[in-house]
Amino acid sequence: MRHIRTVLRAAEPAGPAIRLLTLMDPDGWPLPKFRPGAHVDLHLPEDRVRAYSLCGDPAQQDRWLVAVKREATGRGGSAFLHDGLAVGDAVAASLPRCTFPLAPDAMRHVFVAGGIGVTPFLSMAAALDRGGGDYVLHLLHRDAVPLPALLPRATVLHDTAAAGRPALAALLGGPAPGLHAYCCGPPGLIAAFEAATAHWPGGQAHVEHFVPPPLLPDPEARPFTLVLARSGRSLDLPAGAPLLPAIRALGAEVEASCEGGICGACRVRWLEGPPIHRDRVLRPEERATDLMACVAGCAGPRLVLDL
Ligand code: FES
Repeated sequence: MRHIRTVLRAAEPAGPAIRLLTLMDPDGWPLPKFRPGAHVDLHLPEDRVRAYSLCGDPAQQDRWLVAVKREATGRGGSAFLHDGLAVGDAVAASLPRCTFPLAPDAMRHVFVAGGIGVTPFLSMAAALDRGGGDYVLHLLHRDAVPLPALLPRATVLHDTAAAGRPALAALLGGPAPGLHAYCCGPPGLIAAFEAATAHWPGGQAHVEHFVPPPLLPDPEARPFTLVLARSGRSLDLPAGAPLLPAIRALGAEVEASCEGGICGACRVRWLEGPPIHRDRVLRPEERATDLMACVAGCAGPRLVLDL
């Protein structure tokens, strides 16, 4: 697995319980390019892996900006990045991945962000500002504004502590040809966005989850034989058995981060199935060839992977 060596060159407070990290190559070389809306995994001590959106300008290749909100009830990753990581320390990162891209055919973009969910929209806004794209960013926040110095001019603030959550249908103003809407934030906001866009044409409403949604058992799941095509090794598994540990038990390596089907790290090609797809990142046409190993299952007697 390819990791990027970076160094923390700066860290500053950037809103309520938010620390803004500037990561650079140790020798000052350009970092890998990233697409607007992309994220990276940061590899932390104790084998913890955490995904964060890159919130700087994609055209600025000498640095990656990552905003970390301290999660009081988290698993310790954000606390380490706030308290345990000092300027000058090394940070290993994955290559950037983009599971939340700008729609290339859009004529107008409407972004709806909840709190720290604003981060993917900051790189999108920078790219659109440079290219003359038409967009508006609605930022819903409680009390203090997150990342105030990074917000684009086309930001509309909605203080939900003062006025409650605005009616999303009115903010979105669609559907309309060429209009694409995007949402990133807490589960309640994403659910409201999905309800408000349920009648939109397919592919014009996009969401990015921060927290994996609950994974329910799939009634289609059945016992199956997992086969790794390249090594020829196989393992019999009960219905609904998780794939990642089984793949690793067979000696293959698959990268993983969220382990909840939302980050895109564990993508694998499948050759024989049918798989059960329970991720939130693959498009229908991508599912014809690929699966996300952290949440996928099998509805047939054999699942053959290109590993
Ligand atoms: S580890 Fe994130 S989608 Fe599988």
